Amino acid sequence: MAAGIDDISVYIPKLYVDASDFAEARGLDPQKLVRGLGISKMAIVDSNQDPACLAANACLQIMQKNKLSPEDIGRLYVATESSLDESKAMNSYVIGMLEQVYGSGSFQHCGGIECKFACVSGSYALYDNSNWIRAGESEDKHALVVVSDIAKYDLGSSGEMTQGGGAIAMLLNDKPRLLEFDPKVTSTSIKNEYDFYRPFGKETPVVHGQYSNLLYLIQVKNALVDYTKKAIKTGLITLADDESMLDHMDYINMHLPYSNMGKKALAYLVRHEWRSTPRWAKIIEQVGMNEPVPKDPRGTIESILADSEFMTKDHEFTKRFANTNDYQEVYENKVASSLIASKMIGNLYTASLYLGFRSCLEFEFQKGIDLDSKRFGFASYGSGSSAMVFSGVIQPEYEEIVKDMNLEAEIGERKKLSLEEYEQLHENKLKPEQSLLNAKKEFVLEYVEGLSSESRGERRYSFAD
Ligand code: COA
Repeated sequence: MAAGIDDISVYIPKLYVDASDFAEARGLDPQKLVRGLGISKMAIVDSNQDPACLAANACLQIMQKNKLSPEDIGRLYVATESSLDESKAMNSYVIGMLEQVYGSGSFQHCGGIECKFACVSGSYALYDNSNWIRAGESEDKHALVVVSDIAKYDLGSSGEMTQGGGAIAMLLNDKPRLLEFDPKVTSTSIKNEYDFYRPFGKETPVVHGQYSNLLYLIQVKNALVDYTKKAIKTGLITLADDESMLDHMDYINMHLPYSNMGKKALAYLVRHEWRSTPRWAKIIEQVGMNEPVPKDPRGTIESILADSEFMTKDHEFTKRFANTNDYQEVYENKVASSLIASKMIGNLYTASLYLGFRSCLEFEFQKGIDLDSKRFGFASYGSGSSAMVFSGVIQPEYEEIVKDMNLEAEIGERKKLSLEEYEQLHENKLKPEQSLLNAKKEFVLEYVEGLSSESRGERRYSFAD
């Protein structure tokens, strides 16, 4: 049985910090954010928003657009790394909010859980729900997979320039109008790591930034190697002598903690894929230098990062490689459109890969490209750490969904925050009732029961009319 994404909705908070204002306040060159990382705006949540509200707003949008009632939804999974409770799952809050609109008890038989594995958990949720559909358990109902996060780092840390927030809801079923997943090729790579983690009780993560960048690349490459074996074994593709797996993907969507990570990851994967093909000799000629090798090629991530001579040469090699016509062609045709939305919005953790997918659909369609039957490869990464590589094919009815996509219009008018307002929000100095915007037609947080209450930690939400 088929399974895939039928429709996709995005909810992005309307407050943002401008990258240049931010850089100026932190004594950084704005070009480090704008050109170096590919960030122009970071979406910031208001004081009456949390990841559960964002998720509920994305769900309501997709249900209203598709005229779905609660009985049509058999499963609702929320994948997040911005968990609100050690025990109570985020989908329960979301159901509570949706029932304020659809009626108490209306989602009674909608099963689901909250999924956690840093930024990759949404991909695991999609895979598990697709298998629920493929197994024939869905009985004509849809699954809703929501990825929702607030990417928040310590003030003054190097992660602070890669923040953002938002949610994406994906409707899955057995006759998807948008994208059908390729069966039996989904591949993973996993290893116990401490590149980025958020210990109990800490609101912001502990981050080893450069370590996490390199680990992401290695883990995704390992998952891609396994994916390629499965794609050949199942007959999904046949590789000719001078071909690599990436030649068989029309588009490649990457996990995007910041927009330029997509470029970095593409260069790393393409180098890996092309190195053993006959075309590599021609590429090396264009690059004008040999690929550098670390002093200890079998060393650890730490030893590679500490090998400054190798790191400098490798940086130079990557820069020259990224300027070759062959790389540019792959970048422009398969990746560039997926990076546009991330520049405008920032990091969405679990949702960032799917914001990239959404961005690619909208901006490629605007170019007049017929997306029917195009294969999308997805490279998902979550710190801690695991990668997942999978793929799917755009369906003939896709235009019905994609023709109305307009991210800017969907987000609506945005308010630019002053650095003072941003820091007040960041440090949780404003109560929900002191929100900077007047929310309309969306779910908001009213209050959280305080420490002295018997109901300590209970969260109350309402639908702002
Ligand atoms: N003009 C233009 N580009 C500039 C610049 C300037 N003035 N200053 C720096 N840059 C470029 C750098 O060359 C680098 O580009 P490269 O990646 O192509 O080499 C980029 O901007 C970032 O600079 P870098 O020095 O690597 O940044 P950093 O070490 O201060 O922080 C992160 C970058 C991503 C490590 C940091 O923001 C972080 O920890 N983020 C959170 C964790 C994360 O996102 N991990 C990713 C994997 S999940």
